[in-house]
Amino acid sequence: MTLTGDVLTWGLPRLRDLPWRQTRDPWAVLVSEVMLQQTQVPRVIPKWHAFLDAFPTTEVCAAAPLGDVLRLWQGLGYPRRARNLHAAAAAVEQLGMFPATLEGLLALPGVGAYTARAVLAFAFEADAAVVDTNIARIFARYHGRRLTTREVQRLADDAAPLGDAWAWNQCLMDLGAVLCRPTSPSCADCPLTGSCAWHGEGEDPAVGSAGVSRTQARFDGSHRQARGRLMKALSQSAVRRSDAAIVMQRDRNTADALVTALVAEGLVVCQGELLQLP
Ligand code: ADE
Repeated sequence: MTLTGDVLTWGLPRLRDLPWRQTRDPWAVLVSEVMLQQTQVPRVIPKWHAFLDAFPTTEVCAAAPLGDVLRLWQGLGYPRRARNLHAAAAAVEQLGMFPATLEGLLALPGVGAYTARAVLAFAFEADAAVVDTNIARIFARYHGRRLTTREVQRLADDAAPLGDAWAWNQCLMDLGAVLCRPTSPSCADCPLTGSCAWHGEGEDPAVGSAGVSRTQARFDGSHRQARGRLMKALSQSAVRRSDAAIVMQRDRNTADALVTALVAEGLVVCQGELLQLP
């Protein structure tokens, strides 16, 4: 069999039942893919439902203040993603339709090579090969070497079966999540064990290969933690700028720099002495 046939034969009967796999609504798919970029599936599921309950369409989302979207984003982290989604909703409303081409999707705020192809494949069932961290890891291991961004995209494009991109990409993601895991992969159970160049022995070619994420930086003591504390406080009420250091549990200078950055990113507004969500 081929790589493609083996993956589909393994994956289709055991496809994970995830809520975003039951819709073809491009907005709902976009929201899921943006959430899944930096957050694990079990944490995304309830947030995805809550987000779409509050903002079921681009029209509703675009009409809401960004602060409402950020409030709903609480707990997911990386709030620039929420700002980008809100801006993407506004862009879709401007266009009057959801873009259904690679170029059109890439023009939306916050939508890059991965997200654009994920929407093409998962909402429009168009022929697109998605390369997320799981899939990049599979291709590097299968071919037995570190790949460049172009190489991994080309290998993924070549492997994708015409007309079956939805199933193909979902099955590959499941293979990466269930068997071809970052550490201690289950090679003995893998449908590709006969043709995979690596099959779990020796140095892992996925380490340092393009598109494969490294382990996340430590959260405790990070700027991300401090920013998160302020965003959480602001989702309850306004905070005086002079109290930001206490809220963030950082020294005055660090807190000032972080607030300035959050304001520049459009995630916080400063009115006189008061910090608020936009
Ligand atoms: N990670 C990113 N996209 C995903 C999807 N559609 N299903 C499962 N995990 C994912």
